[in-house]
Amino acid sequence: MQDRYWKGWIVREAALAEGLEVLDVGCGTGVLEESLNGRGVPVTGVDLTEEMIRLAQLKQIGCIECLAVGDGERLPFRDASFDVVFSCYVVKYCRPERLASEFMRVLRPKGRLILYDFSSPRGFFAPFHAFYVYGALRILGVVLRQADPGLAFTYQALPTIIRERKWDGSFGDVLSTCGFSEIGERRLSGGVVTVFWGKKA
Ligand SMILES: C[S@@+](CC[C@H](N)C(=O)[O-])C[C@H]1O[C@@H](n2cnc3c(N)ncnc32)[C@H](O)[C@@H]1O
Repeated sequence: MQDRYWKGWIVREAALAEGLEVLDVGCGTGVLEESLNGRGVPVTGVDLTEEMIRLAQLKQIGCIECLAVGDGERLPFRDASFDVVFSCYVVKYCRPERLASEFMRVLRPKGRLILYDFSSPRGFFAPFHAFYVYGALRILGVVLRQADPGLAFTYQALPTIIRERKWDGSFGDVLSTCGFSEIGERRLSGGVVTVFWGKKA
């Protein structure tokens, strides 16, 4: 349910007007596109993993104008092609500077970026989150991977990646270096994810 809340949050924050062209970097199987459907915005989804794109295609989501296999660090689109760029759960896999400069390149003037990814909660909530992610989920992973080996990644490798890639501490500076203005940051669900946004001048 949290993912639905986080996606709903960024879609609301983006205040999309009809006709704006949207890019979703790391679109996966098209979960964000399901939330964007019916808002009158044509969406292009790009993902590094061909299988993800194939699964998104199978859903036949109405707002999807184009799906492409491609790397967020080298987007296969011309300069100034989109009004809004979204990205969910991708920054931690990439070099943030490369990603942000590609977002800047493909955005039109006054275009907006809004993204989120996992981060580490601070303060009171931090030990509970750490117990859940690095303890309970890992044990669950050992049990569930008997049924589906793919779950081993989600429950065992992913927590390590989240802990090692502390992308959120410097991402505001990265956006600023790449030329974004009106940069904002918001930690949601106690900091389980952090949302960043910015605008192309
Ligand atoms: C956890 S999934 C999230 C999918 C989707 N954004 C969502 O919220 O449901 C992360 C996705 O990022 C994609 N990805 C990872 N590195 C990428 C890169 N460098 N460029 C584009 N996509 C990437 C993966 O293939 C995967 O589909």
